[in-house]
Amino acid sequence: MTEKHSPPKSRWFSPWLGKQTAQVAENEVIQMQVVTTEIAAEEGVTVCYCFNVDEESIKSAIKKHKLCSVEAVGLCLEAGTHCGSCHSRIQALLD
Ligand code: FES
Repeated sequence: MTEKHSPPKSRWFSPWLGKQTAQVAENEVIQMQVVTTEIAAEEGVTVCYCFNVDEESIKSAIKKHKLCSVEAVGLCLEAGTHCGSCHSRIQALLD
């Protein structure tokens, strides 16, 4: 689950920077979002934030160890064994 933020509109910058400068700033914000998204894709999507476990690690463990429950994933990787807010994301990878 990735939350996307919209870049600020030019009119937000305009009063302080002028219209052309605001457009340049907006384009730079969009480019930063693209780079951030690419880095996130390379590093993998984090599923369990408490233990910094990404989607690929969980998928790999499910396949390798034939895991079939959130609890089994937790025993294997610790994912899901603290706050529990990632249980639905882990379950989605199991389904
Ligand atoms: S986010 Fe996975 S246990 Fe907290």
